[in-house]
Amino acid sequence: MEYDKSRRSFIGKVSAGTIAYMAAYTMPVFARTTNDPDTLAILGGTPVRDRMKWPEWPYRNQQIIDNLTETTNSGIWSRVDSPHGRVASWEDDFKALIGTNYCVATGSGTQAISTCMFALGIGPGDEVITSPYTDMGTVSAILTCQALPVFADLDPDTYQLDPKEVELKITSRTKAILPVHILGAPCDMGSIMAIAKRHGLFVVEDAAQAHLATFRGQHVGTIGNLGCFSFQASKQIPCGEGGAVAGNDEKLMDTVYTVMNHGTARTAKKDWKGRVLGEHVTIGPKYRMNEFQAAVLQGQLSTIRKRFDKRMENGSYLTGLLKGFPGLTVQKKYEGTDSVAHYLFGMRYNKEYFDNIPRDLFLKAINAEGVGLTGYISNGLHREPWVDNIMERKVYNTMIGKQRMKEWRESMRNFPMCDKVCAEMAGLYAVGTLLGTKRDMDTIAEAVMKVYKNRDKLSKVKI
Ligand SMILES: Cc1ncc(COP(=O)(O)O)c(C=O)c1O
Repeated sequence: MEYDKSRRSFIGKVSAGTIAYMAAYTMPVFARTTNDPDTLAILGGTPVRDRMKWPEWPYRNQQIIDNLTETTNSGIWSRVDSPHGRVASWEDDFKALIGTNYCVATGSGTQAISTCMFALGIGPGDEVITSPYTDMGTVSAILTCQALPVFADLDPDTYQLDPKEVELKITSRTKAILPVHILGAPCDMGSIMAIAKRHGLFVVEDAAQAHLATFRGQHVGTIGNLGCFSFQASKQIPCGEGGAVAGNDEKLMDTVYTVMNHGTARTAKKDWKGRVLGEHVTIGPKYRMNEFQAAVLQGQLSTIRKRFDKRMENGSYLTGLLKGFPGLTVQKKYEGTDSVAHYLFGMRYNKEYFDNIPRDLFLKAINAEGVGLTGYISNGLHREPWVDNIMERKVYNTMIGKQRMKEWRESMRNFPMCDKVCAEMAGLYAVGTLLGTKRDMDTIAEAVMKVYKNRDKLSKVKI
C-alpha cells in the first residue's frame, strides 16, 4: 500500500492473513458506539483497529520466569556474592551483541551516563554539550557530578544534535560532547567525532534508546570514548530498570567499573568464596545492577536480534506506506545509517496539510482509532524549572562564575528547532508496535488516512 497523491488515498492490497490475525486478537480497543467505519472513532464511529490488539510490551517469556526462579533459589542476588553470577555473564552477552571489548552493567541508563562523567574526571567547573530533546536522565547524569549541561539546537529533520550548533557551544570549559541517539536512530557521528577530535573533547554516547543500531558499520554506543544504554521497562531490551556502559579502552573501562562499584576496583581482595572484601581506591557512587535485573535480560537474549530485525522490517514498510503523504514527515536518517533501533517511529505533523487542525487533536483522533501516536517530549529540557534552580547553587556560581552562569541562563532560552520538533512530533510508540504484522502496519496508514479524509468534521471538535 502506498499513498497516491492524485487520489489522496492509500492504494494497494490488504496483507494476507488479515482475517486470521483479526480473529486471533479480539480484545476491543475502544467501545464501539456505531457500526460506521467511515465516521471517526472520536465522533462515535468504529475504530480502524476495532477488536485488534498490539503485541504486548514489555516483552515476557517463560525463560525470564525460569531465570528469576533460579536466581532466587541460588542465593546469589548481588554481583558481589559471586564473580560468576548473572550480571557478569550479561556483561559478556551484551558485549557480544554490540561488538565492544568491555561492558559494565549499572542500575539504570542515568547511572551509566553518570558513571562515565565521574570516570572521565568531569566535575565542578566543567561543561558538557548535549541535546535539549532527551530524557531528563541525560541531564541528571551531568548534574550528579556537578558539571554544567550546555544545550545545542537540533537538526529539525533528524531531531538529533546539529553538529554545527555543537561547535558553536564549545568554550574553554567544555570537556565532553554527549550526543543522544534519539528515538533509536544514530546521530551524525562522523561530524561529532571530527569536532571532538579538533577540540580535544571526550564523546560519551547516550544510546539509551538505540541498542543494536549501526552507523557506518559500527554499533552506536561503541563509536565515542564511552557509550551508555538503558534497560528501563520501555526500552527495546527491558528489565524494569537497568543500564550499561560500553567501551574499548581497557584502562578507562576499569575506571568505569571502579566508579560504578563505589570506588572498589575489579582487582580488590576477595574472600575464599570470591566475595569482594572492599578496598575503596577512589570516590564513586554505588550503581550496581543486581542479579534479578540480569536474570530478566538474559531471559530475552536469544530473541533480541529477531525483534530488532522485525522492527527494522516494519519500520521500512511503514516508511513506504507513508511515502509521498505530505501530512506526516518521517524522521530523516543521516547518510551512513545502516540500521535503526526504532524506540519511537518518529514523524512530524504538518498542520497545514490537515487544514490547521491542532496537533493534539490529530493525536487524539488517531488514538481513538486504536493507533498510539504520541507528541512524546512536550517541552525541550531548556524549558524545565531546573534551569532556574541551578542558578542558585553555590557550586555553579563558585566554579563557573556568576557572569558565565548569566550567559548560560540566557543561552538556555533559544532552541527554536527543538521547540519546533516538540510542537510537531507525532511519533509512533514503536518498541512493541513495530513487532506487529503487516496488517497492523496497514492499519496505521488507514487511521491516518481516515483522519485526513474527515479533517473537516474533526476541525469542529473542541479539545
Ligand atoms: C535518551 C535517554 N537517555 C537517558 C535515559 C535514562 O535512562 P534510565 O531511565 O534507564 O535511567 C533515557 C531513559 O528514558 C533515555 O531515553
